[in-house]
Amino acid sequence: MNENNPLRIGLIGFGCVGQGFYDIVAQQPGLNLTITCIAVKTPGKARSLPAHRFTYHADELLADPELDLLVEVIDDAAEAFRLVSAALRRGRRVATANKAMLARHLPELVQLQAEFGGTLLYEAAVCGSIPVVRTLDQYFSHEPLRAVSGIFNGSSNYVLTRMSEEGSDYGPALAEAQALGFAETDPTLDMGAFDPRSKAVILAAHAYGVFLEADEILNLGIEGVSAADIAHAAAQGQKIKVVAGLYRLPDGRLTALVTPQLLGPESSLYTVEREFNGVVIDAAFAGPQFLQGRGAGGHPTGSAVLADVLALRRGLRYQYAKQATAPAVQLTHGLEIDAYVRHPDAGVLREVLTWLELPAEAVQTDVHGSFATGAVPVQQLWAWRKELRSLGVFVARQGEVRPVAATATFQTNEAVAALA
Ligand SMILES: NC(=O)c1ccc[n+]([C@@H]2O[C@H](COP(=O)([O-])OP(=O)(O)OC[C@H]3O[C@@H](n4cnc5c(N)ncnc54)[C@H](OP(=O)(O)O)[C@@H]3O)[C@@H](O)[C@H]2O)c1
Repeated sequence: MNENNPLRIGLIGFGCVGQGFYDIVAQQPGLNLTITCIAVKTPGKARSLPAHRFTYHADELLADPELDLLVEVIDDAAEAFRLVSAALRRGRRVATANKAMLARHLPELVQLQAEFGGTLLYEAAVCGSIPVVRTLDQYFSHEPLRAVSGIFNGSSNYVLTRMSEEGSDYGPALAEAQALGFAETDPTLDMGAFDPRSKAVILAAHAYGVFLEADEILNLGIEGVSAADIAHAAAQGQKIKVVAGLYRLPDGRLTALVTPQLLGPESSLYTVEREFNGVVIDAAFAGPQFLQGRGAGGHPTGSAVLADVLALRRGLRYQYAKQATAPAVQLTHGLEIDAYVRHPDAGVLREVLTWLELPAEAVQTDVHGSFATGAVPVQQLWAWRKELRSLGVFVARQGEVRPVAATATFQTNEAVAALA
């Protein structure tokens, strides 16, 4: 396949990522890429290009035989799935950035590619500009991985960084992030760690050959974090970061969780600040590797979309090699973590101790009030995750996850078997 064949591209979505991608292509005419047609949603909206460049019917692009490939970068996961699955049914080549869609529908999308011969790439969906999907899928396709972990969400990392720099509370730091465009008006997906959980689902398919259900993964966010927690961490020379992790246990099972974590300077993630993301890949033979870069924004994410478009021109497809070669993986919550737990109301904190099987002696006090520390089963955190969130309890892990004697497992190999 000619690496510089002219390509005619249909672009669906012209928001932050769509415009970033358009800009990058416009600045590099030598790439021989033409964005022929752009589909958007809202007629009458002010645009940076003339009206004749746009259509309001994305389906027209799917059927256009003049287009060589499609780029889908809309903000509606259900509609994105309808469009991308219809395109794959036509055997088309598609690049997408939509992590929410992928986390929900990855097995079906992989199946559609196998059935109809199309290709879907999605580097931009995980950690913006960091080339982690392809690194896991291609480079580490046959190397067992001990862990893939990192800071997968720039919005919550921005808020934590500002709290740490200013000694400010969560509310003002979030308001600043929203004013600067680093956080959405509805911050739930980012601050509640739902977004990094979607990215963990996507990476698990490439790192371990397993399709996880997002709901099976414990996600604890930072809605309950306070200046007291940041000060507590700083007093020990640590920072709080939201760390998403996929960890292979010595018995071969996998655990996946996204929680705030207290990290010291020995961690590669300690210096990942503001809207940056970082990923640590701990490979069995290569050892640990660390990737850092911008996790969001028009140009960084558009750059990942461009890399996918050029890879599609070369005929690249994801291998999902570990689905074929690795034994089926089981997800387990039968682990425990050393937890740090705080809530300003002492009564709520006492109640939470019973949920988490912590003794009353776990409570300690510092200048900011009461908090508790101790070994907590991940299963209990998972079982009470909704209550912890709605009460604004802040929970962070300290150190690594470790197996406990009594284990609870989830079978997650049905989806893999269905594809065999
Ligand atoms: N922003 C980031 O930094 C970033 C990073 C990584 C991944 N992503 C992902 O990339 C995708 C796009 O994000 P974004 O930030 O660029 O969103 P955005 O700024 O809100 O823009 C969304 C675009 O999609 C268009 N759209 C929505 N529904 C449509 C439909 N049914 N048909 C055609 N066009 C439609 C909108 O049209 P109108 O212009 O008419 O409203 C708008 O142009 C999302 O899946 C997001 O999760 C974003």
